[in-house]
Amino acid sequence: MVSFQGVGKSYGAVRAVADLHLELHPGETVALLGPNGAGKSSTLDLLLGLRTPDTGTVSLFGTTPQRAIEQGRVGAMLQSGGLMDGVKVRELVRLARDLHPHGYPVDQILAGAGITEIADRMVGKLSGGQAQRVRFALATAGANDLIVLDEPTTGMDVSSRQTFWGAMRRQADEGRTVLFATHYLEEADAIADRVIVLHRGRVLADGTSAEIKARAGARRISFDLAGPADRAALEALPHLTTLSVSNAGSGSTVRIQSRAADATVHALYGLGLYPRNLEVSGLGLEQAFIALTTAEEAAR
Ligand SMILES: Nc1ncnc2c1ncn2[C@@H]1O[C@H](COP(=O)(O)OP(=O)(O)OP(=O)(O)O)[C@@H](O)[C@H]1O
Ligand SMILES: [Mg+2]
Repeated sequence: MVSFQGVGKSYGAVRAVADLHLELHPGETVALLGPNGAGKSSTLDLLLGLRTPDTGTVSLFGTTPQRAIEQGRVGAMLQSGGLMDGVKVRELVRLARDLHPHGYPVDQILAGAGITEIADRMVGKLSGGQAQRVRFALATAGANDLIVLDEPTTGMDVSSRQTFWGAMRRQADEGRTVLFATHYLEEADAIADRVIVLHRGRVLADGTSAEIKARAGARRISFDLAGPADRAALEALPHLTTLSVSNAGSGSTVRIQSRAADATVHALYGLGLYPRNLEVSGLGLEQAFIALTTAEEAAR
């Protein structure tokens, strides 16, 4: 339903998107991750037909992005979209509904975005997080097949974010395809059934959150020592990628990331140390993401 075939986009000397191949399937909830400047917004803009690719083609529902949008099949929430200021929230939502070929009742849209209480406020006086919710309401004002959200929860507090995820999940449960860019890896982990990591305009990893974590390969090892830690000896452990030592009283706590935890732990005992509270665990999505993107930078 969404297809990028060899899509490239440069701004002068900056290659924002490079030879991108991507297929999204109906009903998927997909998170787009990547460091600042990775090409997430550019990809979404290309998808929405707001920018034209230099090379390759983007198609939406078998047609051009422009036509798919005219047909009311796509709802979008952009990173830098301004909101009309001098109107009330309800009026703005009604306008979006009226412009949509298959608009929903206004009260339903307000409730779905959790903004019923602020419906009579002036748009120009909303807080940042409230404005984000209004943007979401505009993106969900009608029956869309695809919703595209660029960093939708930026500026929201923790509890607003949780509520917002509920609203996003309901969209997905109703069978819509949801594509969102985010810097909150916890958000990707919690909502997306597919995670795409972009880096310098290319797909660095594409899979479930569990697959991305496994791909990063590393494991965390942590333990306590009764006395001070011998940093140099620990640094020489095999397959170690990071080491941190913190001292607490006469003892110390050591945290290690390793590409081959079994071998690292084996060598640890070989040092004649008596690690207590030894824990070996997989990486969270956040660490996996950092491991993948820094490895990619190092390989350049
Ligand atoms: N209109 C533009 N003119 C020139 N360069 C641009 C333009 N838009 C984006 N870029 C450049 O293209 C690259 C990709 O930008 P993009 O906005 O797609 O990144 P992003 O992944 O969305 O980043 P962020 O996480 O900061 O939102 C960056 O290097 C950016 O500076
Ligand atoms: Mg962006």
